[in-house]
Amino acid sequence: MIIPVNHASSHTLNKKSRSEEGEATVSGPEDAIEDLRVSVGLRIDDEHLSRALMNGLRDVEKLLHESVRSEVSAVEEAALHLVDAGGKRFRPLFTLMAAQFGNGASAEVITAATAVELVHLATLYHDDVMDEATMRRGAESANTRWNNTVAILTGDFLFAQASRLVADLGTDAARIIAETFGELVTGQMRETIGPARGEDPIARYLSVIAQKTGSLIATSGWFGAMLSGAPPEQIQALRRFGSLIGAAFQISDDILDIASSSVELGKSQGTDLREGVRTLPVLYALADPGTDARLVELLSSPLSEDALITETLGLLRGSAGLTQAQATLSDYSHRAMNELTTLPVSPARTACESIAEYLIARTH
Ligand code: IPE
Ligand code: IPE
Ligand code: MG
Ligand code: MG
Repeated sequence: MIIPVNHASSHTLNKKSRSEEGEATVSGPEDAIEDLRVSVGLRIDDEHLSRALMNGLRDVEKLLHESVRSEVSAVEEAALHLVDAGGKRFRPLFTLMAAQFGNGASAEVITAATAVELVHLATLYHDDVMDEATMRRGAESANTRWNNTVAILTGDFLFAQASRLVADLGTDAARIIAETFGELVTGQMRETIGPARGEDPIARYLSVIAQKTGSLIATSGWFGAMLSGAPPEQIQALRRFGSLIGAAFQISDDILDIASSSVELGKSQGTDLREGVRTLPVLYALADPGTDARLVELLSSPLSEDALITETLGLLRGSAGLTQAQATLSDYSHRAMNELTTLPVSPARTACESIAEYLIARTH
C-alpha cells in the first residue's frame, strides 16, 4: 500500500488553522509532533524528547521568518511564499534530533537548523524552474505564480540568508555548507545532462541522489551533532545516516511521483516523466527484459501529452521496475539503520529508526 505524504495535515506547524468560528488559531506542540508522525513517520514515545524537538522547531520557525525579511516587499513576499506554504521541515528536525546526542538545541544548533532549511528552500525554488513544476508544497510554485526570474532570484536570496546565518557558526561550518551546496548543485547538474555513453545509468542515479539529496540531509545531522558537542564517532555516524536516509528519501519521492496523485503529493505528479528525468523505477523497468513492450516504447521517447503520461504511469505502477525500486529503498533504509547501532540507545535513536522504517512503509 502506498502511504502518500499528507499535505493537508502536515502544515499546521507553521500555518494557522481556523476554528469553527473562523478565528485563526496557532496549532499547539502536540499537533506539530502529530504532523511529523504523518509526514515523516516520526515516532516519539518520550515526553522530554517531544518537548525538546517541538521547542526547537518553534525557534527555527521564528528565525526562518526573521531571516527572509527584506526592505523590498517583493523579495520578502516571494521568499515567504514557500516558507508559509508548509513543508515537512525534515532537515531542521534531523538537525535537532542529532543535537540530542550532544547537549541539545543551543542557539548555534537552531541557527544551523534554520540554515539547512533555507538552503533546501533555495534549491526548491531553483528546482521548480528546472523541472517546470507548477505546484510545490500544495501551493503554486514560484515560477508559476510569478516567473522564472523571480523564482531564481528568490532562491539566490534564500541561499544568501543561509550563508549569513552560517557565518556566525565559524569557518568550519561555513566551509561545510559551501561544500554541501556545491555537491548538491553538482548532483542537479549531472541529473540534467544525463549519463555519458557506456555509463551504468543505475549506478549513476544512485550517486546523483546521494549528491542532490543525501548531501544536505547528511550535513543537517553533521551540524546538529557537531554543534552540540557530540563525540566524533557519533557525528560521523549521524552524517552517514543522513546521507543514506536522504538517498532513501529521494527514492521514495521518485516512487511516489509515479504512485501517488498530485493532490496527495502537494506537487505536480509525473513531473519526472514529463521532464524526461529517468528515475529508479524507470531505469529498472528499462533494464528488465520482461518489461511490457508498450511501456518500453513509451519510455523511449519524450512524453508531453497528458494521455500518454497517464498510460505510462499506469503501466509503471504494475511494473517490476517499481518493485525493484522499492527493494533498493528497503536496502538503503536498512543500511541507514545500521549506522545507528553505534549510537547510544536513547529516545532520539528510536526516533531516527522510526523515520528509516517509515520510508520503506510509505511506498509499499
Ligand atoms: C523535496 O523535499 C525534494 C526532495 C529532496 C525529494 P521534501 O520532501 O523534504 O520537501 P518539503 O520540504 O517537505 O516541501
Ligand atoms: C528536488 O529534486 C531538489 C533537490 C533534491 C535539490 P526533485 O526534482 O527530484 O524533487 P521534487 O519531486 O521536485 O520535490
Ligand atoms: Mg523537481
Ligand atoms: Mg528536479
